[in-house]
Amino acid sequence: MALGKRCAANIRGMLNREAIKEADLAVFCVRLGPALRLATRLREALKTKLVLSPIVSMGHRGNLRTPKLKPSTSAAVKLAKALGQRSNVVAGLHTIPAFMLYSPEPLHNYSVVFYGEQPAKGAVMRLVSEIGGLHPLDGGPLEMSFLSEYTTPLLLNLKKLNECRGCSVRYY
Ligand SMILES: NC(=O)c1ccc[n+]([C@@H]2O[C@H](COP(=O)([O-])OP(=O)(O)OC[C@H]3O[C@@H](n4cnc5c(N)ncnc54)[C@H](OP(=O)(O)O)[C@@H]3O)[C@@H](O)[C@H]2O)c1
Repeated sequence: MALGKRCAANIRGMLNREAIKEADLAVFCVRLGPALRLATRLREALKTKLVLSPIVSMGHRGNLRTPKLKPSTSAAVKLAKALGQRSNVVAGLHTIPAFMLYSPEPLHNYSVVFYGEQPAKGAVMRLVSEIGGLHPLDGGPLEMSFLSEYTTPLLLNLKKLNECRGCSVRYY
């Protein structure tokens, strides 16, 4: 309901395979393990589609979160490998808490960094720029997406330790 109000969306439930047929862009809103299994199963259907990965692979240290990945193995690079293609895979939205996206409250000009190749990255950035209060920035190739993946555990730890409702970033 709140999402519908924000973007006048027409929302219908479908199986992944059916939804992909009608879609130009598929967003992998699942954790890395299931995402890789889904990508392997759906790689043929996703061949000509734009794919957006907000996936962050995280571990725990005590009650705090830590990044799990080494720089050369970002979640988006792993996803591209499972899909068997990389030119249509874009990484982004790692630093926006989901509740901020579906809340009817306005977003406060948060920066969102996107990684990948053109023209896929430009298409995703143009689409995201239509969401009021989000400012898309180009962060370079897919391999660099580990930088934003590292930021997410920091934001979650800041939220926990400082009793914030949610933390995001804004670059000037
Ligand atoms: N939440 C955020 O604020 C946020 C911010 C930045 C990035 N991300 C990234 O976005 C992704 C999703 O985050 P989330 O917080 O929504 O994760 P989540 O709470 O684990 O939700 C994952 C969704 O994946 C589904 N799922 C679980 N196992 C599955 C499987 N084997 N096959 C298909 N679907 C499966 C779950 O469905 P059921 O409910 O039916 O189990 C659920 O709807 C993660 O990679 C996360 O790192 C999230």
